[in-house]
Amino acid sequence: MKIKVKGRIRDLLAFRRLVPARRKRFASAPVLSRGAAPLNQLVGQLHPARQNLIVSQVRQETPTTRTFRLTADSESGTSSLAPFRAGQYLSLKLEVNGSTITRPYSISSAPFEAAGTDGYYEITIRKNENGFLTPRIWENWNVGTRIVSSEPTGLFYHEPLRDSRRIVGLAGGSGIAPFCSMAKEIVSGSMDALLLLLYGSVSREDIVFYDQLSALEIEAPENIRVVHVLSSGEKAEGFEQGLLTADLIRKTADVENSTFFICGPQVMYDFVFNELAQLNLPQRRIRSEVYGSAVHIEQAPGYPLEAAGQTFHVKVHIGGVTANLAALAGESLLVTMERAGLAPPSRCRSGECGWCHSHLVSGEVYIHPGRDGRRAADLKYGWIHPCSSYPISDLEISVPRGDQ
Ligand code: FES
Repeated sequence: MKIKVKGRIRDLLAFRRLVPARRKRFASAPVLSRGAAPLNQLVGQLHPARQNLIVSQVRQETPTTRTFRLTADSESGTSSLAPFRAGQYLSLKLEVNGSTITRPYSISSAPFEAAGTDGYYEITIRKNENGFLTPRIWENWNVGTRIVSSEPTGLFYHEPLRDSRRIVGLAGGSGIAPFCSMAKEIVSGSMDALLLLLYGSVSREDIVFYDQLSALEIEAPENIRVVHVLSSGEKAEGFEQGLLTADLIRKTADVENSTFFICGPQVMYDFVFNELAQLNLPQRRIRSEVYGSAVHIEQAPGYPLEAAGQTFHVKVHIGGVTANLAALAGESLLVTMERAGLAPPSRCRSGECGWCHSHLVSGEVYIHPGRDGRRAADLKYGWIHPCSSYPISDLEISVPRGDQ
């Protein structure tokens, strides 16, 4: 449409005709389905709402650790795998005793291995005999088992614009998984970094990926170095004894020029953060992956001990439904809702991703200071992450109905 401007006077009538003219154009335009637009297709491939996967291989890594290879389940509608960055995780959606729960697992394979029609992810899981989920996974996951997951997600990856080229990985147990992914990606030439891995295990037989890591070190000795540390006191040539101490880090790493990445069980974090504090590192050079709820919340800093052991009443609004639940003080609100079969949205389960973001209508919660990923506006307007929030009074929350 042409709009004339005569001198300083605009053609106001032309402006009035804009809306009907636009309506006419819309009416005569060809119908394009949203899904067919190339950009939408690309977005769908990069960030699928869900991925249908199938277990195609199971490998025993150590007496207590298995790796599960997951490929696209084309019969269920997933023809290729979403790409990821080394260090990211998948949030798996699982049905247990009639409840839908999620669990995050780091991807131990490399990004280049997920590409193409034969691409795959691998996740490596340590069995916790007294755990809620891992014994079930070990019993029920075989070749052919179908699994639903999120797109790859998480912030635990090397970002050259932010991180040093030198990385020190501090790993414990199955926390080696994201570092295995990084090491493979470095050796493939797709990731430009130098990785020193300080990997703590109880004994020699507990080391996950020993052969793989040794092979990667041999293939790229300039880029990859692995130092195994055994805590059991077992003596073995070429292995360090003890824990991931500040002394060991000073002895092996270029402390001043490295970014530190940490992944392992909670007990390891507690120890390693104390050791790193002795090195006076700026916070921006410490990156940690914390997935899963805090254990023994009553021992967390600032927890109000008078709440310990109590049961509170929680009113939950979710997806047009209101439920009244009994909530144990020691369990996160996310677990309380999952137990009740409400299937609340979640991914990281540690307060970081914001996927479970919910409104605290009334009442009080305790939030673990190491797992409080809320923004200032959340604090101001009463938003919480139920995965890292524990009831310390009766309360009411409103939870968005997510769909993974
Ligand atoms: S699940 Fe990630 S913040 Fe709650």
